[in-house]
Amino acid sequence: MLQIVYISSAVGAVDAAPILAASRRNNARDGLTGLLYADGRRFLQALEGEAPAVERALERISADPRHRAVVVLSCRDVEAREFGTWSMAERVAGADGDAFVAHVRGLIANASPTVRATFDGFVQLRRAA
Ligand SMILES: Cc1cc2nc3c(=O)[nH]c(=O)nc-3n(C[C@H](O)[C@H](O)[C@H](O)COP(=O)(O)O)c2cc1C
Repeated sequence: MLQIVYISSAVGAVDAAPILAASRRNNARDGLTGLLYADGRRFLQALEGEAPAVERALERISADPRHRAVVVLSCRDVEAREFGTWSMAERVAGADGDAFVAHVRGLIANASPTVRATFDGFVQLRRAA
């Protein structure tokens, strides 16, 4: 099973709702799980599943004009899924920072230390931004 983590920057004001809808539909169909973090400026996404399905999804996602500068931070084989489902954590402007950090920590609880550190560090960094 392949797991990738990438980071990207939103192009303009991106509405996350249609991304969430398409992702739920397609990822369920393709056996993909993971987490998409969105704060209006940046995205950080983990995607895992059978390698061809992950690669196809990444190709489609990378070509999406709603974001740019897609950089893969990690790409590794995992024995078992680290994310049980596909979820999205969207930080809405003005929302309680502590509650959001706690929410993301709950979603990454079963991920490997590296993936956990990537999400946790990023969320805290962005919280201060
Ligand atoms: C940051 C970001 C993350 C995305 N994540 C996913 C995803 O996990 N799965 C997915 O199918 N599409 C995702 N998309 C949407 C795809 O780029 C594409 O619009 C969609 O897969 C097309 O699906 P459709 O042909 O069913 O409409 C994402 C888009 C962006 C900008």
